[in-house]
Amino acid sequence: MFTINHFAALSEVISPAMMQGYVVLMVLLVMGGTILDMMHKKSAQYFFENAKKAKKSAKRSVSGGEKVSIAASVLVNEVLTSGEFSNPRRRLSHLLTMYGTIIFIATTAIMIFGYPTPEMPTPALLPQLWHIGALMLAVGGYWFWIFIRVDVSAEGLPWFRFERADLFILSLLATSTFALIWSFTGGGLTVFFALFILASTVLFGGVYFSKFAHMFFKPAAAHQKKITMADGSRENLPPDYDLTDPEVQRKFPDIPMYMGKNPPNMGLCIKAERPNHY
Ligand code: HEM
Repeated sequence: MFTINHFAALSEVISPAMMQGYVVLMVLLVMGGTILDMMHKKSAQYFFENAKKAKKSAKRSVSGGEKVSIAASVLVNEVLTSGEFSNPRRRLSHLLTMYGTIIFIATTAIMIFGYPTPEMPTPALLPQLWHIGALMLAVGGYWFWIFIRVDVSAEGLPWFRFERADLFILSLLATSTFALIWSFTGGGLTVFFALFILASTVLFGGVYFSKFAHMFFKPAAAHQKKITMADGSRENLPPDYDLTDPEVQRKFPDIPMYMGKNPPNMGLCIKAERPNHY
């Protein structure tokens, strides 16, 4: 079962050209949804105006080499290893969801375009990876949905309550779940195939209404944040003061007055305790 390319088997009832057309349509929907989202929220306009404003309050200029190393660090930390999550459970669940989605979508496209009919034997690795991707997505996604999601873990709401903001995760979960059930029940033109296609159409067609496009915006935002740290503009935030520094104590005399000459570093207050006051 794990080694069958169900799309090739399906080519007897749905032509490969139709399946390929569907994939192209989904790519166009993602592009269109992302562009509409940017126009509606004016996020790109805000982003560039904000970057221009930050440049004006820069304390130093960032060299080309530094920009390349910042881009490399964003790629390694924020994009490839989900380094923005300091909660290890959220990070692991995001890694499973992200890589699961990428593997699942990539192998789907390779099988539909590269091995569209049973006459072209599909290497067993492709359907195997397709199942592994869908499983990774389901495991990371259900873990997030039932246990990790802030509504459940911090606000005490029941796991089955949902709202529009959950469209992305729910359509991801529905796509992977119905794809797996479709495969486990032998593939073919069945009700599970119809549900799989319905869920994936909502996932790719709902970009304008969902959080889908965060995967394009987050890397740009992380890069810009690091640039503002490197050029000293710091989004107009004060520097990270060392409270034991006599220079800092001279500038803020109430620090030694209330906390003594050697105040302890108490870290970020936001990390003092887990949110559980509901
Ligand atoms: C295939 C690619 C990706 C998938 C499937 C994915 C999936 C998800 C999901 C399901 C969530 C939870 C959304 C929710 O709150 O309902 C999420 C949140 C998040 N993702 Fe991704 N993601 C992807 C790519 C990326 C990339 C490339 C980055 C960063 C560079 C990123 C950064 C984040 C961050 C920071 C959050 C937390 C957002 C928040 O709490 O507001 N994601 N992602």
